[in-house]
Amino acid sequence: MLQAERAAGELLPEYHRATPECPEPRRWRMYDSMTAEFEVLEFLRTLVTTLKPRLIVETGAFLGVSTLWMAEGLRRNGEGRILSCEFDPVVYAKAQEKISASELRDWIDLRNASSLAMQVEGTIDLLFSDSDLDIREQEVRRFLPQMNPHGLILMHDASSHPGTVRDAAKRLEAEGLISLVLLPTPRGLVIAQKRTAKSA
Ligand SMILES: C[S@@+](CC[C@H](N)C(=O)[O-])C[C@H]1O[C@@H](n2cnc3c(N)ncnc32)[C@H](O)[C@@H]1O
Repeated sequence: MLQAERAAGELLPEYHRATPECPEPRRWRMYDSMTAEFEVLEFLRTLVTTLKPRLIVETGAFLGVSTLWMAEGLRRNGEGRILSCEFDPVVYAKAQEKISASELRDWIDLRNASSLAMQVEGTIDLLFSDSDLDIREQEVRRFLPQMNPHGLILMHDASSHPGTVRDAAKRLEAEGLISLVLLPTPRGLVIAQKRTAKSA
């Protein structure tokens, strides 16, 4: 959080280490190492305007930056809502303050809750799993029954943390639960879709 406050909204070169799929991370930009890469934020907004989701669920709001970018997409669409959660009460208070001060606040329902306990009603059109690295698999398993089979599941940090996030995504794929591709950004973004009897 300190790094984000020090950067004060200024973009820095991405400093995550090079990976085989993304050998030049410094060609990307970031606000801080917790918030998704700037280009991924742009991509999230574009996904929202492209897919027109009615319900987005995000796990791990941190300071609400990715939440606000997706909400911007909803505002352009003129419909939908984003339900996000932040587990840490201090971080949640900061994010809530920022969201409350934003014109995008009416599109966002931010909760001080764990992704593994938060109750979500209805069909999820877009799931962005970006909380604790070790629980991304549990999150996807938890929300999978509610996923729109034509919707998208995003799991961030699959390149920066191959042993946790990428392996989790591959396990879900090996079980036939999702089909996936890996976007080669500095931290890596899995884009997945629920597999149904029809798609199998
Ligand atoms: C990588 S940051 C999220 C960054 C944010 N999505 C963005 O791009 O702007 C992860 C956040 O998830 C939170 N977190 C960790 N475990 C969580 C859980 N079980 N439920 C909700 N939030 C959690 C952490 O406190 C942290 O603020």
